[in-house]
Amino acid sequence: MNNYKIKQDPVILGIESSCDETAAAVIRGRKLLSSVIISSATEQAKYGGVVPEIASRAHTEAVDEAVKTALKDAGVTLKQLDAVAVTYGAGLLGALLVGLSFAKSLAYTLGVPLIAVNHIRGHLAAAYLSDEELKPPYITLLASGGHTAILHTKTYTEFEVLGSTLDDAAGEAFDKVARILNLPYPGGPNVQRLAEKGAANIPFPQSLVKNSQNLQFSYSGLKTAVINYCHTAEQKGERICAENVAASFQCAAIDPLVKKTVECALKVGAKTVTAGGGVAANDYLRLTLKAECDKHKIKLVLPEKKYCTDNAAMIAAEGLIQYTAKNFAPMDINACAQIPLK
Ligand code: KG4
Ligand code: ZN
Repeated sequence: MNNYKIKQDPVILGIESSCDETAAAVIRGRKLLSSVIISSATEQAKYGGVVPEIASRAHTEAVDEAVKTALKDAGVTLKQLDAVAVTYGAGLLGALLVGLSFAKSLAYTLGVPLIAVNHIRGHLAAAYLSDEELKPPYITLLASGGHTAILHTKTYTEFEVLGSTLDDAAGEAFDKVARILNLPYPGGPNVQRLAEKGAANIPFPQSLVKNSQNLQFSYSGLKTAVINYCHTAEQKGERICAENVAASFQCAAIDPLVKKTVECALKVGAKTVTAGGGVAANDYLRLTLKAECDKHKIKLVLPEKKYCTDNAAMIAAEGLIQYTAKNFAPMDINACAQIPLK
């Protein structure tokens, strides 16, 4: 299984199908050649969130087109592929199996290595596509729908978790607040749009929990505070200013992430900070993290917004790391609904 000849700048196809995006991308070395995303979000929006069965069916219909388009856009033929990288977890099982089975068949037929990618490691690897010079060590702010953590990436394959959330993830909190404010799915971008029109003048509790052992975040208290604020106003017959609620929530959710990420970088002496995951597409986070990094002369590497939310370019980027480490997957590898961060 590990007898493949390792190339210098391999051509890698990445496939992602863990949630509601069917995505395919091609890289040559660290250069991104193409990235295609076919989303079932509009269909899912009718149900207010992702329906797993609908996601699986949508992937089945879209995966072939996504891969063909990615190859065409990259100007690469199937025969030129040196490896196929695919998300094997975490995510919705049925959805993952569509991409994984497709990738297995392709790798098997082409006689190239199959690389099984942990979706979260994909989010971390997205930064490599933004800056070809980026190399460890650095600090990463990871904020997605399932994870919120500050990591110290020490080598291409190893990181230490410096802090994480005790309960909800930041993205989950954005989605819940969107529901409280009757905003449609997907919640995060809609909360951001509303927040841009409001003032952060409601003192919601910040999502930071401190103890001597670890640096932790908590989003359940913030979410409850937003619910209570809206319900109390409703009971009093007062109209809430949804724009101000969104802006105040956004600050309470994001300010601690930015502050602590930079504090961690200063503490460990890291000269570079990166970010990844859907919440890293948030403009307020991007602006405040940039300002804070500039203040301390820390280099910030932010993936483009489209590579913060789910995509296959990041899966191909992590695929390259695993390819270089000769970490290839057996053909009987199964999809995993949950994979611990560490
Ligand atoms: O990384 P991602 O696409 O999927 C997961 O792996 O979870 O992250 C999705 C999460 C959702 O909770 C979504 O509401 C949030 O990222 N998100 C945002 C923004 N765009 C996506 N949250 C705040 N502001 C945004 N602009
Ligand atoms: Zn994701």
